[in-house]
Amino acid sequence: MDLREELPSDRQAVRDVHLQAFGDHGLVVADLVDTLRDTITPQDGLSLVAEHDRQVVGHVMFTRSLLDAPRRLVDVQVLSPLAVMPELHKRGIGSALVRHGLEVLAERAVPLVFLEGDPGYD
Ligand SMILES: CC(C)(COP(=O)(O)OP(=O)(O)OC[C@H]1O[C@@H](n2cnc3c(N)ncnc32)[C@H](O)[C@@H]1OP(=O)(O)O)[C@@H](O)C(=O)NCCC(=O)NCCS
Repeated sequence: MDLREELPSDRQAVRDVHLQAFGDHGLVVADLVDTLRDTITPQDGLSLVAEHDRQVVGHVMFTRSLLDAPRRLVDVQVLSPLAVMPELHKRGIGSALVRHGLEVLAERAVPLVFLEGDPGYD
């Protein structure tokens, strides 16, 4: 499995991952990804895919947000959404995407990444 930044040519494959992974909710998430993507720049935000047999099988997105801290607004990132093709769940692909994304953001000195999601997810 390879992890790499999303390319413009991955757009439909990334939609397919979310459509399949989120089931009934898939269309909303796929559209959200298309909207959030417009906010990503080379310096800000990150969209990563996992490839298996040259197919995109997983995706994670990090986008910019502002934390209203006591002294100033702080640039932070939000991890959302994350999805892996259902037939490849529980093989560590989701964890690998998150870990790699956090490493890239740490290199950019991003101070904090928020995750909104199910508290049951480790
Ligand atoms: C959540 C998701 C991305 C995990 O991908 P994955 O490749 O299966 O994850 P991993 O194999 O790296 O799992 C790592 C650990 O995460 C936890 N985990 C994974 N899926 C979970 C779930 N649905 N609920 C709770 N914990 C979960 C488990 O602790 C797992 O470890 P285990 O092997 O001991 O069970 C995948 O299940 C998915 O696409 N789900 C549908 C979309 C979704 O709910 N996305 C998250 C919200 S944006």
